[in-house]
Amino acid sequence: MPKRYYITTPIYYVNSVPHIGTALTTFAADVTARYQKMLGREVMFLTGTDENGLKVLEAAKAAGKDPMQFVDEVAGQFVEIWRGMKIEFDDFIRTTEERHVRCAQEVFQRLREAGHVYPGTYEGWYDVSSETFYKESDLVDGLSPDGNPVTWVQEENFFFRLSDFEERLLQHIESNPQFIVPEVRRNEVVGFLKQGLRDVCITRSNPGWGIPIPGDDSKVIYVWFDALINYITATGWPDSGWEDLWPAEVEWMGKDILTRFHATLWPAMLMGLGLPLPATLVGHGWMTLGGEKISKSKGNVVRPLELAEGLSELTGCERDLAIDAVRHHMAATMPYEDDTVFTLEEFHRRYNTDLANDLGNALNRSMAMAAKFVGGAIPDEQPEDEVAQAIAQSVEQYRRHMEAFRLDRASAASLEVIRFLNKYIDTRAPWALAKSGDPALPRVLFGMALCLRTAEGLLRPFMPGVADAIAAQLGQVPLTSLEGVGTPSTLRPGSKLGEARPMFPRIQAERAAAPEPKAQPPERPHPAKEAPPSEPIGIEDFAKVELRIGRVLEAEPLEGSDKLLRLQVVVGSETRQIVAGIRAQYAPLDLIGRQVVVVANLKPAMLRGAESRGMLLAAVDGEGGAILLQPDREAPEGAKVR
Ligand code: MSP
Repeated sequence: MPKRYYITTPIYYVNSVPHIGTALTTFAADVTARYQKMLGREVMFLTGTDENGLKVLEAAKAAGKDPMQFVDEVAGQFVEIWRGMKIEFDDFIRTTEERHVRCAQEVFQRLREAGHVYPGTYEGWYDVSSETFYKESDLVDGLSPDGNPVTWVQEENFFFRLSDFEERLLQHIESNPQFIVPEVRRNEVVGFLKQGLRDVCITRSNPGWGIPIPGDDSKVIYVWFDALINYITATGWPDSGWEDLWPAEVEWMGKDILTRFHATLWPAMLMGLGLPLPATLVGHGWMTLGGEKISKSKGNVVRPLELAEGLSELTGCERDLAIDAVRHHMAATMPYEDDTVFTLEEFHRRYNTDLANDLGNALNRSMAMAAKFVGGAIPDEQPEDEVAQAIAQSVEQYRRHMEAFRLDRASAASLEVIRFLNKYIDTRAPWALAKSGDPALPRVLFGMALCLRTAEGLLRPFMPGVADAIAAQLGQVPLTSLEGVGTPSTLRPGSKLGEARPMFPRIQAERAAAPEPKAQPPERPHPAKEAPPSEPIGIEDFAKVELRIGRVLEAEPLEGSDKLLRLQVVVGSETRQIVAGIRAQYAPLDLIGRQVVVVANLKPAMLRGAESRGMLLAAVDGEGGAILLQPDREAPEGAKVR
């Protein structure tokens, strides 16, 4: 069997259920797995739970539960929440499982036989919260460097000769620049190694919970030593077949568990066993809330599924797409060198700009214009050069960033195609091409569809539901491979488009987490001399009228009337029919593509048998005819007018 692309996440302590911080690491691994599968690789994606250790035992006691029952319950919740977040793991390992107990004991035994493990007396401090041993000089004001309480430990234990591996570790890091990323983390690890490594205590006296060392029930294996082994347990080591998986291509984790554990203790253990090292360790930054690391004990926890639920309630967007919106936010704000601060305001802002505006508009406009101008089918064409170039550039950047595990940049590269598309529509103005009968029209519309198809492929690892929805609207089978992405061969010429369906309704400013400052009352204009002054109204009366920027996508005379036109107007994420009495002043083709000001919260009315959902603002000329109001430069789609 060929070697599979093996991806791991840390295994999570079951003292708390997932929050947006732990979700981040798991999500990153999921994106990597989905991307690799789209490259055609066989993937194995492992996640799981860290269930031994004092921290978990204490949490079970605090919950008044039997530890085994407690870990079963919480591990079950992890699986459920990860599935809810569309995490496609292949194996879920729990360190209380028999397969792991056997493997951990085997590792201990082999390292002992090889002389890397020796007995001794441990005297020092222990931080239960991070399950870490500290010496006196590590403490800050009597607390661990992370600010946690510590307890004094004096026990007969076993030690691992970590100090023996210092040189080899440094050499490995030096000759394998991709071993630790990002670079700032590699430098931290090198700095740590150069201070010199001490042997580590790898057993604790048995508190009635944990993995006993072989042949001696009075001691259990130190929880970090046991936890790291999970990555090889899942390969089936030492039984045959593990070589199909090990070494891992990438191990994802937060920066807090990189230096001491994954970049020193773990590779040293592997060296001691004579096993190869993982190809890459990615140590991302933290997602903080108000500058503080998210943690259950601080009570500042944001749960990813609740976030999606809230968004769906606020906007009316489908729950499945709301989950993708959370995934998108995690990708776009994925911390690497620095930490990122999570705020609900920023989550809502990004939803509006990236998804409701950029993606929503590109899709709605393209679908409406394809329906109008090329009969709702994919033209048999090639893209214009500027489209082919923009797409090729985004695809190239996307791949480069994905290979370097820079998910934030890869996500930006995918959205770049969408931003290009919106600009392309504005500059190539298909409605003007239609009006003048320009033969470039089908080519332009083909280019627009190709941009969307490309975005579908590139966004798929991040937002699988959104990708499916784009494919459905384009009337194409979902792209499951990145091969050929961005090329015309991914679109079936002549195939009919699917149903246009707005995905992400905008969050109105007044409903978003941080309301925009209230509009200042506008200076009242002097009434025109000839017009009698009308009753003054308060700003609150004016504010009742919701004015928005719309774009005319279709216009035709309304049958049975010589005054009315029937228009289809896109207002933000929805398309509305508006009937307007402007036929004497405007030819339908002159209106297509034009921006207009729409009274958006007018009660629907029936005009000559046609429903009108809104009204266009116009000045009145000397004869009572309409002069349509238009913003004096392109305004964002659906922008508020006040
Ligand atoms: N059980 C250990 C890992 C053992 S791996 C052999 C552990 N568990 S943890 O549940 O505390 O954390 C797991 C991972 O989640 C770590 O990579 C940690 O950095 C990450 N995060 C936890 N909170 C986080 C944030 N607020 N932000 C980013 N990552 C966060 O450590």
